[in-house]
Amino acid sequence: MPIKFDPKTNIFKLDTDVSTYAFMVYEQGYLVHLYYGPKVPDTDLSHLMYRGWYDSLSPRNPKVQDKRFSLDSIPQELPGNSTGDFRISAIEAVAPAGDSVTDLRYAGYKIHPGKPEMYAVEGLKLPAAFAGEGEAKTLEIEMLDSLTGLKAWLSYTVFSKNGAMARSMRVENTGSSALELERAYSMCLELPGMDYDMVHMYGRWAKENTVTRHPLMHGIQGIRSKRGMTGPNHNPFMALARKGTDEDQGEAIGVSLVYSGNFSIETEVDTLGCPRVLAGIDPSSFSWHLEPGEVFQTPEAIMVFSAEGLGGMSRSFHRLFMDNLMRSQWTHKKRPLLINSWEAAVFDFDDDLLVDFAREAKKLGVDMLVMDDGWFGTRSDDTQALGDWQVNESKLKGGIGSLIERVNAEGLSFGIWYEPEMVNPNSDLYRAHPDWIIKAQGREGSLSRNQCVLDMTRKEVRDNIFGQISEVVGKNNIQYIKWDCNRNISEAGNAVLPRERQGEFFHRYVLGVYELMDRVTGTWPHILLENCSSGGGRFDPGMLYYSPQIWTSDNTDPIERLTIQMGASLCYPPACMGAHVSANPRTGFETKGNVAIMGTHGFELDPCKMTVEEKEWAKKQVADYHKYYDLTHYGDLYRLTDPAADPFFCDWEMVSRDKGEVLFTRVVMRKPENYYQMRRLRGLDPEKMYRDEESGRVYSGALLMAAGLDLSQPWPGQEDGSSVTVHLTAE
Ligand code: GLA
Repeated sequence: MPIKFDPKTNIFKLDTDVSTYAFMVYEQGYLVHLYYGPKVPDTDLSHLMYRGWYDSLSPRNPKVQDKRFSLDSIPQELPGNSTGDFRISAIEAVAPAGDSVTDLRYAGYKIHPGKPEMYAVEGLKLPAAFAGEGEAKTLEIEMLDSLTGLKAWLSYTVFSKNGAMARSMRVENTGSSALELERAYSMCLELPGMDYDMVHMYGRWAKENTVTRHPLMHGIQGIRSKRGMTGPNHNPFMALARKGTDEDQGEAIGVSLVYSGNFSIETEVDTLGCPRVLAGIDPSSFSWHLEPGEVFQTPEAIMVFSAEGLGGMSRSFHRLFMDNLMRSQWTHKKRPLLINSWEAAVFDFDDDLLVDFAREAKKLGVDMLVMDDGWFGTRSDDTQALGDWQVNESKLKGGIGSLIERVNAEGLSFGIWYEPEMVNPNSDLYRAHPDWIIKAQGREGSLSRNQCVLDMTRKEVRDNIFGQISEVVGKNNIQYIKWDCNRNISEAGNAVLPRERQGEFFHRYVLGVYELMDRVTGTWPHILLENCSSGGGRFDPGMLYYSPQIWTSDNTDPIERLTIQMGASLCYPPACMGAHVSANPRTGFETKGNVAIMGTHGFELDPCKMTVEEKEWAKKQVADYHKYYDLTHYGDLYRLTDPAADPFFCDWEMVSRDKGEVLFTRVVMRKPENYYQMRRLRGLDPEKMYRDEESGRVYSGALLMAAGLDLSQPWPGQEDGSSVTVHLTAE
């Protein structure tokens, strides 16, 4: 039983396979955090709430008998506002009297088998992890502010595997007057000491997912987005790694927010050296008006505990996302290997060129042609036609049906590009509905890539775009959609929400996008949806819920891709990373293929312009894609070097979950001065004997992990940009 409540001690104990999380109901209904860390057998952990003595400046509740109890230092599950806890608060609401004192106390609990679905507002769904009854249990704690009637249910889903817990909060106004919710974090985590490093990913367009690690300091530190989308600048993920934790050993706690909009992951280290971690919607761009009876649901945060280093934490996230978050049928179905038209043709194509692409790509073994931007309205460059999703028949002569038939006749299926949330001022949609864009009243709106953002909070806007998509997707043999989103939101304002609800805009925007994605994937469940936002600008678990793959970056340079993909793998499974072989000249085809096969693999080049030698490489890569599909999509990733820190090599392994098969890959980023190279492998079964497919040599897993794989034979080159793979199978 992973969730236990002991009525004698009033302690809730939540056990995953490797971790324990505990809190207790204390005097006067305070919900006090006790412990999060490696699994422990103890039942009474109540002594862990004390963190030294309070001082004379610390407020105390006179009804609490315990002289050591002051919220100034006590760790809490739901810290409110202006209660004597002066650290950052997880919830804050303006009371009918106008003050912001927010003080919720314990009112009861429920335990559910599995994991209930999460609804946001007005029937709109929030993406969230799912779990069957055998896989998880969910505890709901009811908290109440008895003065205002503000009620909160804290939800804790405890998974039996992967050291994982999912957390969120549902808030209801059970009072008789309206309340203004000013912040509502999805989770609060209190830790007892600051010997942690904060690890997260930052970046920009074409340079996503740079991993950074730095010690916690006293005070407030964190990451956030105010862009309306998660953005490439900071990913909604953070890990706290104990000092000394490395890739393979030591404790790490990962926090990942299942959300695609403005977020904040904040840590405050108080003067006692104790961190409080909050993750949720960014409070600086949020408020929510709650009339009596109204409910607000936060997005979900997922916490993973690992005692096997950052690598172990990543593998737990990967498995959890693949098994319990990415709900598309394509997550576990063989995906088509595609060729995308963008880098080869940009806006300059017609039906004949696309059919030529299909014919040549078929010879390489490609399964699908994706027609990227440029097929609709008057779209001949990026200044026009977003919003006009009617086929441009002067480009695609005979219409899209005829093009698809011709592509199908070449033996390829067909995919298409959309940017549903956007509109160019130079478009028929904008001319008909200039009031449908996001713009604060009386302000001039900025443009970005010559486009504006449609107000996805409005159902009539979503209906129009869905109707336009239906006309094309519903009437043609389309198997894939690339859903792009190429600008962020500025001058945010909403033409229909009343003044007191303008603070709801950003969250309502995200809910609108989710609703449209839900409608598209629900209406055409056979469609493989690939998200994109100028590359990896919205690479988050909320998007993964709908699309099992996301275009990782517009940067297709294979060496640059190493840090981008390895960085993403801190939280995200390789199988979700859109990765293509392009015409980028930085390395030869072999390395481009070896890097793309870490992710989804596809092509993004003109197949008619490939040399005979390049075509041979491409055919080999397609064969490898099939040969290693199960291993690369469902296996475990072991990062053997850090490409941002190692001057020479990026080495990684994919190991099947049963440890029976291994694909080792090395990319030489810079020619090493030392040709003698041993690389110790990880994650093998020490008892198993592994045969190297190429040399026929057999080694024990124990030896490969202790002495390593000898990579010192000079294979052609060992030059900058070269690469090698080693395939091992257990006998
Ligand atoms: C974005 C995407 C690209 C491509 C273009 C089309 O930049 O990241 O892959 O689809 O848009 O305009």
